[in-house]
Amino acid sequence: MKRPFAELSGTGSYAPPRVMTNDEFSKILDTSDQWIRDRTGIRERRVSSKEESNACMGKAAALQVLEENGLTPMDLDAIVYATASPDRLLPSQACDLQAILGAKNAAAFDVGAACSGFVFALNVAEGLIASEQGKNVLVVAAEKLTSIMDWSDRTTAVLFGDGAGATLVRPVANSKGRGILSSYMKSDGTLAELLYRPGGGATHPPSPELLTDHSYYIKMAGREVFKAAVLSMADACDQALQRAGLTAGDIDLLIPHQANIRIIEATAKHAGVPMDKVYVNVDRFGNTSAASIAIALDEAVKTGRLKAGMTVMFVAFGAGFTWASMVVRW
Ligand code: UT7
Repeated sequence: MKRPFAELSGTGSYAPPRVMTNDEFSKILDTSDQWIRDRTGIRERRVSSKEESNACMGKAAALQVLEENGLTPMDLDAIVYATASPDRLLPSQACDLQAILGAKNAAAFDVGAACSGFVFALNVAEGLIASEQGKNVLVVAAEKLTSIMDWSDRTTAVLFGDGAGATLVRPVANSKGRGILSSYMKSDGTLAELLYRPGGGATHPPSPELLTDHSYYIKMAGREVFKAAVLSMADACDQALQRAGLTAGDIDLLIPHQANIRIIEATAKHAGVPMDKVYVNVDRFGNTSAASIAIALDEAVKTGRLKAGMTVMFVAFGAGFTWASMVVRW
């Protein structure tokens, strides 16, 4: 087993107070609470207001992490931000957060890996620590997906929600086996068009047609994405365990990306982790893309599901396709 370079220290999250239930969707779309619960496990999701920007949600989560670590924004060496729904396309979401935090000493940049974004960002942060480019790397994952989803498309609208999570990656303070034990990242760009936003970028710049043909919004071939998610998350679990020199029996808590309870159950089954060791909040948040594992991690810590000395595995899958995993001794 490798000697950990970096550990995660402190967690934070933000959930918009507005809860939207499945029944509310059944009033505006041809869907039902029963269908959404049976096919996805989702009961409700959070919907941000106009005032709750991506950066505001990220800031709320980040401030909790700073406070827990007794740091000020000026102590940050880097901000790595994972999001697929930034407030604006230029500059990065990380730079906007840096400005509102007043984290003057930090390098700030985004990681674009969709729902795998938090785990990719943790990987990048670990690399910054290992290469001694900084000591305090803030990782934020936040999404305002309700602003880029098609509210008239029942195949996608019922799935997504908003929120943010954050943690600090820093050099291992006191070995005791704590820290990042393994990590894995993989992508397959040839399958991009199964889950993407066709319009609004440089090849299809903004035009009135983007809104009328709905190409500005997230499009997904659900069934194909489902199959790829199950296979890729299985691969990611295998890789993270193997690289850490561990087996499923060593995992105290599995925190998978929260897209669909059926994908979570298939992933846990493949990994050999019983469901009572799997953190699930997809019922309350829906799919918050990059933010999903970050929010779940904060909940797991704050509710005592994840305690010091435990071994936790993150596993994610998302648009790209991208998939990733990480084993951390907490
Ligand atoms: O976060 C990144 C990755 N994202 C995911 O991992 C999501 C992966 N995909 C999924 O979770 C599932 O594929 C969905 C939840 C999106 C869909 O579930 P499914 O069991 O794969 O359903 P389906 O797409 O095969 O659709 C079954 C039926 C279709 O009707 P027909 O063709 O059988 O008549 C759909 O039109 O369900 C219909 N349908 C709905 N019915 C009621 C699709 N969406 C809805 C809806 N309400 N919201």
